[in-house]
Formats: sequence, C-alpha cells, structure tokens
Amino acid sequence: MSHIDVGVIGAGWCGGIRAAAAASSALVGSLHVAEIDHARLAQVAESTAAATATSDYRELLAITSIDAVMISATPETTHYPMARDALEAGKHVLLEKPIALTLEEADELIDLAKRRGLKFTIGYSQRFNAKQALAKRSLEDGTLGEPVSALVSRHITRRLGDKISSRIKLSPAAMEATHDIDFLLWCLEPARPVRVYAQAVERLMKPKHGVADCMWIVITMDSGVVVTVGAGWILPPAYPNFSSTWIEVVGTEGALLMDASHRDIVLTTMRDGTVFPLSTMPGEALGHTYAGPMERETTHFLEAVAHDRPVLVTPVQARRAMEVYLAADLSAERNQPVSLPLDQEEAERALAASVRA
Ligand SMILES: NC(=O)c1ccc[n+]([C@@H]2O[C@H](COP(=O)([O-])OP(=O)(O)OC[C@H]3O[C@@H](n4cnc5c(N)ncnc54)[C@H](O)[C@@H]3O)[C@@H](O)[C@H]2O)c1
Repeated sequence: MSHIDVGVIGAGWCGGIRAAAAASSALVGSLHVAEIDHARLAQVAESTAAATATSDYRELLAITSIDAVMISATPETTHYPMARDALEAGKHVLLEKPIALTLEEADELIDLAKRRGLKFTIGYSQRFNAKQALAKRSLEDGTLGEPVSALVSRHITRRLGDKISSRIKLSPAAMEATHDIDFLLWCLEPARPVRVYAQAVERLMKPKHGVADCMWIVITMDSGVVVTVGAGWILPPAYPNFSSTWIEVVGTEGALLMDASHRDIVLTTMRDGTVFPLSTMPGEALGHTYAGPMERETTHFLEAVAHDRPVLVTPVQARRAMEVYLAADLSAERNQPVSLPLDQEEAERALAASVRA
C-alpha cells in the first residue's frame, strides 16, 4: 500500500478533526502539524502522535517528504497566502472554504494547481452528508424528473455567529450560505447560475460585529430552475443544537423533503438541560465511529492523493459558489438582481459589500 505524509496547518476546531482523521488513516505515513497557539499545538501533536509540530507553517511546507496539506487556519485572510505557498511548495491541498477572498486570488490558485499538476480541493463538507448525497443521486438518476426548484434554509446559533463574526467581517452569504450554494449548484449541474437576488436583515449583529443577521438569496439557473438559500446566525443561545436545516428539492416527477436539523436525538440532563446532540456541521468523533461529514471528506482527500483519484469538490466549483455569494452581497447592497458572470468592477464592489454586509 502507498503511504503519504500529510500536514495540517491551523489545528483549531476543523484542523483538529482533519488531524485526527489523518492520524487514524491507514494511508498516512506521518502527520505534521503547524499551529500558532502553543497550547493547542501541543495538545493536537500529542493526541495525533505527530511526527513534527511547529508554530511556523513555512517550516512544515519545507519538509520535502510531505505530499499533502490541509489548511484549516483562521481568519480567512490566511487561506489564499497559505494555499499559494503550499501549492508553490509542490503539496496537494485541501483548503477550508472560502477558497480565497477575491476571484483573482481564486483564479491564481486554480491556475497554480493546474500548472503544477496538484490536487486542490475546498472544504465544502456538506456534500459528504448522506442526505445531501441522496439529493444529488435523486436528481442524477431521474427519480425526481426534471428539477424545478431547490431550497435550503439554515440557521446556526448566535454562539457560532459571534465566533465567526468576531474574526472576520464576512457576510452570512460568504460564511454560511456558501455551503448550501455549493451543494445546490452541484446538484443541479450542468445548469449554471445566471442571476442572483438577495436581501439582508441587519438588527442584532450589525452594532456588535458589523454584519447582517441573515440573508435570503434567490438564484436563477440557465435551465430556469429557481434556487433559494436562507442563512441566519442568530438563533438564541438557549437553542439546543448548532444548526437547524431544512432542504427541499422539487422536480417534475417528485420531491425530496429533508429535515437536517438533528432534532431526532434528545439528550436531557440535570446539569445541562435539553440538547440535540451530533448537530455540528463538520460532525464529531464518537469513539470508534464519526457522526457527520468531515472525517469522510478528509479521507476522500487522502485517498485522492494516495491513489491519484479526482477530488469531489473542484476549485472551479468553489470559485463558482464564491461568485454567487459575492453577487448575493452586491444584490443585497444594491437592492437589485445581479447578473452573472460578474465583471471586474462588479466583483470589486461585491467584495466591498461582502466584507461590510
Ligand atoms: N466545513 C465545515 O463544516 C466548516 C465548519 C466550520 C469552519 N469551517 C472553515 O474552517 C476554517 C477553520 O475554522 P475553525 O472553526 O476550525 O477555526 P478555529 O478558529 O477553531 O481554528 C483556526 C486555527 O488556526 C490557527 N492559526 C491562525 N493563524 C495560523 C497560522 N499562521 N499558522 C498556523 N495556525 C494558525 C488558530 O490559532 C486556530 O487554532 C474556517 O476558515 C471556516 O470557514 C468549515
């Protein structure tokens, strides 16, 4: 069996999951970790028996035996320079979303990976959930007939909204809806998005973090199919889970209606009251097993590198999701629909709207 050596850059919540998944994979020879928080670095290095641990990610990239790196650092301004440095060092890359902050940066990374012949994929983990995979298959095998409309409504808790918005002023479209935009565009391929209309509500988070509370986004595909994605991040702290999600895919021959809200398990204790466990978007380890998509997504990337297989999420698809969320931010700011593709000037204005929204 061929082994690969793997690095993780940024070993926080997601990076910790990636590192643990790599450490337990039979495909991985040695694991290397880079993290600027010394206590966290020591903790993850110990739990994964990492071969090396450093606070300087460039030291990790200089290790020639490393074949692939997973970049899970925050804030999101780190994504482009780290991915560029990793690709330039000849490493295959799994980068958490978003692929970059600007379309030019995304294009540069896509081009770099292509020229170097390296795998480059983005962490759109929701594609690795069984429910989302069922939606994709039900459209592909004709169960639902021709697609007519598709919707994802997702609300996450204020605790997560606060965590995200305190590190970067990116909108709910850029940081949250992006997962569901990617998922629905993937489901509806080869149709392409041609128009975006979005509205944002600014009541609670604006004074605190300078971002909207929620955004509702309507995307028109060139096939005529209408996609709706709602993304909010102000569910009260008392809400008993991380993420509440409703999915609808309607076609000419059927409909798939799915509750992905994780309300099917109720845990109630004297100490913590009532919670709905296993509801985080990346998922979590449970002893010998894992509930959620991120472990499988990580293994898929490791398999793609070790066995030279294609990655499920291509960077071109990630760029397309980015263009749609940028258009949503611009539309919400202008209060008008925005046509795709964005031209250069619109892309720049969209970025400004995204960061302010
Ligand atoms: N796919 C999903 O379901 C999902 C869920 C949550 C977050 N994300 C994405 O994953 C990324 C990570 O999110 P998170 O919640 O794990 O963040 P986090 O803040 O918990 O972890 C990020 C880590 O990066 C470290 N870091 C910062 N600069 C660094 C540097 N120069 N070198 C090395 N380490 C550095 C930080 O110290 C921190 O430990 C985000 O970009 C986010 O968009 C994806």
